[in-house]
Amino acid sequence: MLMKATVSNPDVKTGGIALHNLQKRYGSAVAVDDVSLSVSPGEFISLLGPSGSGKTTTLMMIAGFEMPDNGQVLLDGRDITRLPPHRRELGVIFQNYALFPHMTVAENVAYPLRMRRLAKAEIEARVRRILDQVHLGTLASRYPHQMSGGQQQRVAIARALVFDPPVLLLDEPLGALDKKLREHLRNEIKTLHKEVGKTMIYVTHDQDEALAMSDRVAVMHEGRIRQLSAPKDIYRKPADLFVAGFVGEVNLIPVELKDGIVHGPAGETLPAAPWTGVDSDGTLCVRPEHLHLEANAAPTSSGGMQGRITGMTFVGDATIFEFRSDSGLQLISKVLNVSANTMPEVGDTCIASWLASDATVLTQ
Ligand SMILES: Nc1ncnc2c1ncn2[C@@H]1O[C@H](COP(=O)(O)OP(=O)(O)OP(=O)(O)O)[C@@H](O)[C@H]1O
Ligand SMILES: [Mg+2]
Repeated sequence: MLMKATVSNPDVKTGGIALHNLQKRYGSAVAVDDVSLSVSPGEFISLLGPSGSGKTTTLMMIAGFEMPDNGQVLLDGRDITRLPPHRRELGVIFQNYALFPHMTVAENVAYPLRMRRLAKAEIEARVRRILDQVHLGTLASRYPHQMSGGQQQRVAIARALVFDPPVLLLDEPLGALDKKLREHLRNEIKTLHKEVGKTMIYVTHDQDEALAMSDRVAVMHEGRIRQLSAPKDIYRKPADLFVAGFVGEVNLIPVELKDGIVHGPAGETLPAAPWTGVDSDGTLCVRPEHLHLEANAAPTSSGGMQGRITGMTFVGDATIFEFRSDSGLQLISKVLNVSANTMPEVGDTCIASWLASDATVLTQ
């Protein structure tokens, strides 16, 4: 493990972060609204949300570059809300962060250590070690403009890690790169996370990235955390309509919840866990890959929706079917193109159904 912390030293941070009721206003606009979050030492947490949802502002309050109007930031239980950034000793990779263009890779990475006035030999040894770790050992004397975007991004990561911070804050570090490179570096960051064991708080608006990399994902919208869960639960058990719609594709079916049963727009019974709440209107969320279409079938006792296939698109590994219910609702079904699957055709009358356990009922 790289630069392992010694537990006997009380000054060594383990990297637990707690945010208590953080709030930040710009004029009358609330950028971050009552955000509370507890991050365990060594955990990888993503802040995921659309543009303007308050991700960068939250990260900058943790880093100390923005001062909250209310609330606290704690590092290992110690209140650091009012500490200047350099006294927090947190590694930061900013959104659209550029390297110093007139410095070589080694000089860029050495910079935080020179600021801390470490001895020359110590600086050289640490720079060499961290550059090897991000696979840039052979490029130490290059200048940023002589490197690819992905390599430059790795230099930025090395520079943020070189002074051995307990926490690394990353703001869309892969934002400017193409899809292939993003996926490659995503895996590298994940591997690095396992190797160095640092707490990582990772800002992204890319749901795939957040789901693939994180121990937990905090979905943000309009300055608030709408859901904080493991990736699987964010996808399978969205807490509200915003999360359901923002993370992945979803069919939203207006339903009536009555006498423990979920009724569709035509009054039909739909597959869902028995409803135990009070009678009300709601929305049933079903992912396209969970929605099955069976041609010329009759409804089963678990329920379903009658209708017709109105469109079909081949997308390589899957086929996307458009289904229109007799009640006029347009739904999407995604079927993997495995040879054993028999596919319905456009115009076929169908029953759309799903497993009760694959449907989420939302009532707000
Ligand atoms: N310095 C500032 N002055 C005024 N308003 C600001 C400032 N910084 C951010 N905001 C506003 O605060 C809100 C949250 O911005 P923030 O940068 O945190 O969003 P974000 O989630 O990081 O978005 P993006 O994905 O586009 O980077 C936005 O409405 C933004 O316009
Ligand atoms: Mg941002």
